[in-house]
Amino acid sequence: MDVITETTGEFLRGRRLRQRPALRRLVRETRLDAKSLIQPLFVCPGVGVREAISTLPGQFHLSPDQAAEEALRAAEVGVGAVLLFGLPASKDAIGSSGLDEKGPVPEACRLIRQRSPETVVITDVCLCEYTDHGHCGLIDEAGRIDNDRTLAQLSKMALVHAEAGAEIVAPSDMMDGRVLAIRRHLDQVGFTDTAIMSYAAKHASAFYGPFREAAQSTPAFGDRRTYQMDPANGQEAMREILADQEEGADLIIVKPAITALDLIARARRLTLLPIVAYQVSGEAAMIEAAAERGWLNRKDAILESLTAIQRAGAHLTISYFAQEVARWLGGR
Ligand code: PBG
Repeated sequence: MDVITETTGEFLRGRRLRQRPALRRLVRETRLDAKSLIQPLFVCPGVGVREAISTLPGQFHLSPDQAAEEALRAAEVGVGAVLLFGLPASKDAIGSSGLDEKGPVPEACRLIRQRSPETVVITDVCLCEYTDHGHCGLIDEAGRIDNDRTLAQLSKMALVHAEAGAEIVAPSDMMDGRVLAIRRHLDQVGFTDTAIMSYAAKHASAFYGPFREAAQSTPAFGDRRTYQMDPANGQEAMREILADQEEGADLIIVKPAITALDLIARARRLTLLPIVAYQVSGEAAMIEAAAERGWLNRKDAILESLTAIQRAGAHLTISYFAQEVARWLGGR
């Protein structure tokens, strides 16, 4: 008996729209755009410093002048914003150097605003880069994280950044109530236009390893599980997002990205705030390491992962590849 092949119309001919590149491009549902990418920069003291970070290929410790150069280059290829992390000259138990208006981050804010006025400057607000114990909060006599005393310190840091020209502050500490505390503190002194991009759903993740080397912020004892969320929890992530929204967050972050695509999708339905995904250091490291061994195609893996993050529902993505991807997109 003949095999019946005339079945047109009886089954899905999904391949019809995949026949040639122009057609595939036409029906593509998700398009990457440099403007929705945010480039993290690590700012250290000094002048003319540009030192490669071993755990994050392609990333550098930059003095404020070099950070300004880098921000300018990022803006030229269309990157949406830069996110500044600080490496202070000194650390103590309460992270005092984080409040120094002459510290690397405020200095870089001022220089970037001067030399690259188009660049949107976002600053990381957290104590872990500035404390000698490496925790994101202050420690009480019993050796526990002192949530409420930490809020004042974070609020002051946010104001120092805002005064230096940061348009958006991004608290990444995961203390309870910090969005409200920062919002009130900023408003009190007239910085009502400084936006808060809150790390709302941040898991205690193994994928931050390379960053902690880069930011020199590995905790000296214990871990971050009393403040960052259990990666097993999604419902709790939604609760954190709603809480931060109520406290006045303008944008919310889900972090990491690839291990939390389900949460990005849920967040998109949960809130009307812009959703920011953070493709963290460990996600970048996996791609770099595998590409180095020739196990996967680096460029394709980067583009596919960023596309998946956006397809899941992210409006913006923080990525170490931002500048490079922006260049690729422009070159297309
Ligand atoms: C600081 C902070 C971390 C990251 C962003 N802000 C590290 C951490 O929480 O330990 C991680 C970013 C990355 O891995 O790329 N609180």
